[in-house]
Amino acid sequence: MTEDQADMPRDGHGVAVVSGGSRSLGRVLVERLLAEGWRVATFSRTGNEFIEQTALKHPDTFYWEAADLGDPQNLRDFSRSVARRFGRVDLLINNAGVLHQELFLTTAAKQIETLIGNNLLAPIVLTQACARLMVRGGGGVVVNISSINAIRGYRGVAVYAAAKAGMDSLARGLARELGAFNIRVNSVVPGFFESDMTANVTAVNRERIQHRTPLGRLGTAEEIADAVLFLASPRAGFVTGQSLVIDGGITC
Ligand SMILES: NC(=O)c1ccc[n+]([C@@H]2O[C@H](COP(=O)([O-])OP(=O)(O)OC[C@H]3O[C@@H](n4cnc5c(N)ncnc54)[C@H](OP(=O)(O)O)[C@@H]3O)[C@@H](O)[C@H]2O)c1
Repeated sequence: MTEDQADMPRDGHGVAVVSGGSRSLGRVLVERLLAEGWRVATFSRTGNEFIEQTALKHPDTFYWEAADLGDPQNLRDFSRSVARRFGRVDLLINNAGVLHQELFLTTAAKQIETLIGNNLLAPIVLTQACARLMVRGGGGVVVNISSINAIRGYRGVAVYAAAKAGMDSLARGLARELGAFNIRVNSVVPGFFESDMTANVTAVNRERIQHRTPLGRLGTAEEIADAVLFLASPRAGFVTGQSLVIDGGITC
């Protein structure tokens, strides 16, 4: 590893990959990483005005491609595009996720496959492709976006929860395997925060969540991003294999 390579992520001029960067938390992460000076590559199934405007504003430092978590080949192709475009990967944020709420006994087999495919297999495939690039570049950081569903039981989300718990244990196992390559791997474990995913939570459920939360409110995507960017930064240089819960205290 050259000194330049070691300094790349610390200076904030490295290359960051964010899955699902078109909306909600992913969008906040893309905006903040670009503002910090990172080159940022992201994908989602569809583009939108934010993606178009960002590509116009940052033609040299922003890259978006259409890709679907449900298609592992899409993810490998995306990683190859990033390598061609930016030559390296220093930070991977496994942000994109898909929530489907339904009681376990009536959930169709296809739906279970989709939930595991999108929320667990996809981050595994993307992490392997990006970690190989990080090894070549002398190191890096992986941050998985998990969920408090991974650490507490909730009705109607058992399969999603199992996939998120898998992301947490993936982080611990990879921290052991990849530490020697100067790669740190951690999870952020968010509670409920305002986003497109939670936009259709009923008023009654929202009230219930707020009542059970010591801080009395849902979180914001900015607050979750603060934790992600901390773990990505040199301030977390000795943190690996950990899960950082950001939930207003609802699981305490
Ligand atoms: N919101 C919460 O309260 C909460 C709580 C705990 C954990 N989380 C986790 O936090 C992360 C971000 O959540 P969020 O609320 O910001 O999600 P969101 O509002 O639903 O946004 C998801 C992003 O991922 C992309 N995406 C979704 N399905 C995809 C697919 N099959 N292939 C490729 N891209 C896909 C979406 O773009 P397209 O639709 O165009 O593909 C979008 O950019 C997720 O991992 C979620 O599980 C959220």
